Amino acid sequence: MKIAVVGGGSTYTPELVEGFARLLPGADLHLLDPAADRLAVVGPFARRLNPRVTWTTDPDEGLDGADIVVIQLRVGGQQARIHDETFPLACGCVGQETTGAGGLAKAVRTVPVVLDIAERAARRAAPGAWIVNFTNPVGIVTRALLDAGHPAVGLCNVAIGFQRRFAELLGVPPDAVDLDHVGLNHLTWERAARVDGVDRLPALLSEFGDDLAAQVGLPPQVLSALGSVPSYYLRYFYAHDQVVREERGRPTRAHEVARIEAELLRLYADPALSEKPPLLAQRGGAYYSEAAVGLVNSLTLDDGAHHAANVRNSGTLPFLPDEAVIEVTCEVGASGATPRPVAPVGPALSGLIAAVAAYEELAVAAAVHGGRSRVYSALLAHPLVGQHERAEALAGEVLA
Ligand code: G6P
Ligand code: MN
Repeated sequence: MKIAVVGGGSTYTPELVEGFARLLPGADLHLLDPAADRLAVVGPFARRLNPRVTWTTDPDEGLDGADIVVIQLRVGGQQARIHDETFPLACGCVGQETTGAGGLAKAVRTVPVVLDIAERAARRAAPGAWIVNFTNPVGIVTRALLDAGHPAVGLCNVAIGFQRRFAELLGVPPDAVDLDHVGLNHLTWERAARVDGVDRLPALLSEFGDDLAAQVGLPPQVLSALGSVPSYYLRYFYAHDQVVREERGRPTRAHEVARIEAELLRLYADPALSEKPPLLAQRGGAYYSEAAVGLVNSLTLDDGAHHAANVRNSGTLPFLPDEAVIEVTCEVGASGATPRPVAPVGPALSGLIAAVAAYEELAVAAAVHGGRSRVYSALLAHPLVGQHERAEALAGEVLA
């Protein structure tokens, strides 16, 4: 099996290729990246971790005959991310790379690039090749891919992170934990954690509620009121103004990541290095390779295993349009990811999900068709922007 990794020059790539070496050693991994300098460092190190790695700067060559196309690119690098995490603050809005105005800026510069790659993949990859999309904002990018007719599944590591954490607290193997994971990408809640059909989340909340709350940066009261565990991306909503105050007083996460990346590249360049350096764990991508290998296995072996994935709603959440892309636990086989039946979602979650899904629909339109008025409309619909004066000012920044 050949797997093309678009954005293979990422400092995350060693995480991915090491996971494949461990869990799917028969897979050939072909790294594609326009940045030859990055590939020259990341490629040889990735090969020391996994002998089945090759690399190229030519996208068509890289995609040729691929059975799976993993897309994990970042247009504009950390410089663009610094901007996304900064400009909304002037309007009193959170500066984040996937949420709010920063997420929209990332979406509009990213979607056209990903669609171009997908069109090349449609011509060059093996017939029926799946696109596994890790590119943020994953919900918006995946919807743009599906709208354009590409066979894509969106993936994020938030759910697998909770699965691993809950399993550790419960003293069971990770695969024994079946999550009721619901929402949109980076707007999800864990509503149940079933082990042998029994929901253990109430017990986890009463025993470890304080730890779990601290992990997502919210007061325990929020978790007990919801009866579920929100992802840490919900902090940008439930503690929005506090986050803005914190962000105003410190460098952005992008600054920190740029420093980590520079150091990682320096370490990777050492020919004696033949395992993942501990520094890589300071990035947010924990279990990213496990999530990817699990999904690829299910898509190719047709094993029907459960994975949290980004897929069309198609009636799963009755308060959203069918075309919306949601992130829920799915059964995954050769025909793709199919949402498991979802228990009714009450108003505490559904109102916010619906508002952000509406924003995402407008964001896809802005990213695909362009134009200031589409960007403005998406910002006006976003619950973290929502006011004319802000939408007007932020639209200018997004376009710039
Ligand atoms: C988590 C999210 C990813 C995001 C990453 C950021 O893993 O699920 O979508 O890209 O965090 O981590 P970073 O180290 O770049 O801040
Ligand atoms: Mn994610």
